[in-house]
Amino acid sequence: MTSSTNQFLKPITTKVNDAGNLEIGGCDLVELADKYGTPLYVIDEKTLRAVCNDYKNAFAKYPKTRMMYASKALCVCAISKILSEEGFGFDTVSAGEIYTVYKAGVDMSNVLFNGNNKSYDELSLALDLGVGRISVDNFLELALLNEIAHSKNKTVDILLRITPGIECHTHEYIQTGHLDSKFGFDLTQIDDAVELVLNEYKNLKIHGLHAHIGSQIFETSIYPDEIEILVRELARLDEKFGLKLDEINIGGGIGVKYTEKDVPPSIYDIGSIVIQKLEEAVKKYNVDYPTLFLEPGRSIISTSGVTLYTVGSSKQVPHGKKYVAVDGGMADNPRPSMYQAEYVAEVANKKDNAEMEKVTVAGRFCESGDVLIPEIELPKLDEGDILCVYNTGAYNYSMASNYNKVSKPAMVLVNNSQSDIIINRETLDDLIANEVIPDRLAK
Ligand code: LLP
Repeated sequence: MTSSTNQFLKPITTKVNDAGNLEIGGCDLVELADKYGTPLYVIDEKTLRAVCNDYKNAFAKYPKTRMMYASKALCVCAISKILSEEGFGFDTVSAGEIYTVYKAGVDMSNVLFNGNNKSYDELSLALDLGVGRISVDNFLELALLNEIAHSKNKTVDILLRITPGIECHTHEYIQTGHLDSKFGFDLTQIDDAVELVLNEYKNLKIHGLHAHIGSQIFETSIYPDEIEILVRELARLDEKFGLKLDEINIGGGIGVKYTEKDVPPSIYDIGSIVIQKLEEAVKKYNVDYPTLFLEPGRSIISTSGVTLYTVGSSKQVPHGKKYVAVDGGMADNPRPSMYQAEYVAEVANKKDNAEMEKVTVAGRFCESGDVLIPEIELPKLDEGDILCVYNTGAYNYSMASNYNKVSKPAMVLVNNSQSDIIINRETLDDLIANEVIPDRLAK
């Protein structure tokens, strides 16, 4: 079976250049670190476009597929522009994400708004900016959305988010489709929701059903299980209410390769499994071929991204570990401390003939738990060496914080030996930009 870009650990343009340094997108990583400072997020445009092509080719046989990038993985104007150029729409979950893609100039009819507790203001913004679909999660939201739509004299196109009751093997915090999940209508609540829309909420129009099972998934079987339930429900709602729904959204979740141990599925495999199952289910339940929405986030952006750090202090614990500290850590990549996520790193600068040693890569934040890589064998590190941590494109910048009042790193896009800033490094003034000293304290 054809391999896909999410199955690689490193960006596809990664190589060692003539100077003996690591290079990505034709850019020497040591030069990037020097020019832009560290920590630095680097995104390789070729890898990103290669994943987009994987998705498009894998689903080409089903022309009614709509790819909606889950922008929670990394929501940045420049990245949104690339994805929109590649024909992707966007799954958004907040006013901030909606506004970002809007400012990037994407076609808002190709944007979907998800979330289990959307506010009045967020729903209102979504309607004002012309977001194409709202995936309604619960009864409160149905009522609220209808009220807002009514006040604006609009009809809103919605999906119903359902909890299909499927479990997957991933970290408990990133499972969402199991029965006691906080997301979506339980299967037993769908009919009540539909009845409300048909009989009372006249400003809402249902187009289909939406589910999402979890994230960083390696099993391929969850998608057929999910499609079976979604298509069965379409048929059942048609029979019971005469309601013809023609859209299903199977969410995201496809995994990536953080370490050699990880064996994520090929996007091509997923494509054929999904399409085959869809054909079977459509025949079995005698419904029309629905439009198929996909919402991948991590598998789109993770492999394209790396983070560069500068090595600083180190500590050999007598008869214990050797810690090597870098100039970032849990604030720019909270995943190791939140989910025990594992990462692989390499030294970016020339280190020929250096002895190898086992080290713990520690962050610079004031917590013992701020460890990026608990154990890795690397060439003996010196202060000033540049460390490149792979597969940090997804859920790193998007979950970054200013813990310890440290500025968020810059991000550069690399391609064909060119590097461009897409997020400026936060300045010290940015860090206090929203702070106010009340007049009574200002004396
Ligand atoms: N659609 C919905 C409704 C979702 O909740 C998510 C992710 C996605 C799509 C995209 O899933 P992906 O293709 O990226 O797996 N912060 C965690 C991941 C949380 C994912 C939440 N929902 C992490 O760093 O692993």
